[in-house]
Amino acid sequence: MPQIKLLNIVGARPQIIKASAISRAIRRYFFNDITEIIVHTGQHYDKEMSEVFFDELEIHKPHYNLGVGSAGHGRQTSMMVTGIEEVLLKEKPDSVLLYGDTNSTLAGALAASKLHFPVIHIEAGLRSFNKSMPEELNRIISDHSSTLLFAPTNAAFKNLMSEGFRPENSPPYTINNPKIYLSGDIMYDNSMFFAGLAEKKKAKFLADMSLERDKYFLATIHRDTNTDDISRLKEILVTLKSLAEEKDITLVMPLHPRTIISLKTRLRELYRDLSECPDVRIIPPVSFLEMILLEKNCRLIVTDSGGVQKESHFFKKPCIVLRKETEWIELVNNGSAKLVDADPVRIKTEFLNFMNSPDILKYPGFYGDGKTAEFILKEILLMFEKELSL
Ligand code: UD1
Ligand code: UDP
Repeated sequence: MPQIKLLNIVGARPQIIKASAISRAIRRYFFNDITEIIVHTGQHYDKEMSEVFFDELEIHKPHYNLGVGSAGHGRQTSMMVTGIEEVLLKEKPDSVLLYGDTNSTLAGALAASKLHFPVIHIEAGLRSFNKSMPEELNRIISDHSSTLLFAPTNAAFKNLMSEGFRPENSPPYTINNPKIYLSGDIMYDNSMFFAGLAEKKKAKFLADMSLERDKYFLATIHRDTNTDDISRLKEILVTLKSLAEEKDITLVMPLHPRTIISLKTRLRELYRDLSECPDVRIIPPVSFLEMILLEKNCRLIVTDSGGVQKESHFFKKPCIVLRKETEWIELVNNGSAKLVDADPVRIKTEFLNFMNSPDILKYPGFYGDGKTAEFILKEILLMFEKELSL
């Protein structure tokens, strides 16, 4: 069989991290069979939101960077579609690999499916059942433009079935006869692989930050619902600060640029209070290896991030989720993640419950065996043997 050309679309921080799992598996096991081309839309562009991951996670530098940057949804997505279309026409890949649910994912799905390049969606089937979230629309449209769909969890696989995807479809697979798989989660592969490396390569990171195991809790906030609604952001941060002070535990927050911008422009007084508080540490976004160390050693995690919710589970930490709903519903059913919206009373109650009884929680293996990237690539190769076409 001739080599297969897979075109990977990345753009936002979590997609660069996800693509590293596929890159690593290609380099290790499939270098004779697969060539990968990386297209970076430029959705994230600050060094600590993009370049740091290419350097640290040993992903091939992007073959193309479309340099799209920040803009409103329509403008940003349309610039990405235009740029991706040009690359597709030039590269003529056998297939296009998409990750997750960002505007870069959506743009890849639209550009590729309209030009009849088969789309493979990794992290398919996740649903919040809240279509006012931009990511929910991105997920639904990307899944319904795909030919191969890799669902990371049982819940995601069931969601696809309830939207009419049929597990019994047989090859040749096309956009009209797609194939769905329950694959496990490539982010579990990554967390397991990089956890050991983080201990070795960043041995002094926590000490340099004057942080000690279990003496701090970790929070990330970046969802538009939390950052753009100033009263929500304020309530969350005031509550977290008061818990840090009350329980004498340090709050460490590597904040997304979006959140910093909101604080600096619209909540200046609160930003000053937080910056001056000895129990609160606002820091710039950290690298993935540093994030793993922060997650592994903290007492508990507070977040609105999809990726960080799962990593709390990988590293066996209780998680407070600053959202009304989650796509990672197995965590909530398990009791190790609690949905609190932005409600100060619920944040406080769950925080104190977790602080008082962390040991009763269990962390079953919901996300595969750590070899999901290999599974995905094997299935892709198998499908090409069976004439994958759109
Ligand atoms: C995007 C995804 C979200 C994902 C998140 C991961 C969409 C619709 N949203 O949200 O699903 O969880 O990435 O982090 O695709 N900014 C910078 N520097 C950067 C990048 C962004 O300053 O390198 C600022 C800009 O002010 C920008 C804002 O952050 O307007 C939002 O960035 P954008 O990429 O539009 O969305 P995210 O909130 O990052
Ligand atoms: N992450 C990181 N540094 C940070 C914050 C997050 O490396 O300062 C990683 C985190 O460990 C996870 C991913 O980025 O793997 C999650 O990305 P994000 O929260 O931006 O987006 P989401 O997962 O919600 O789409």
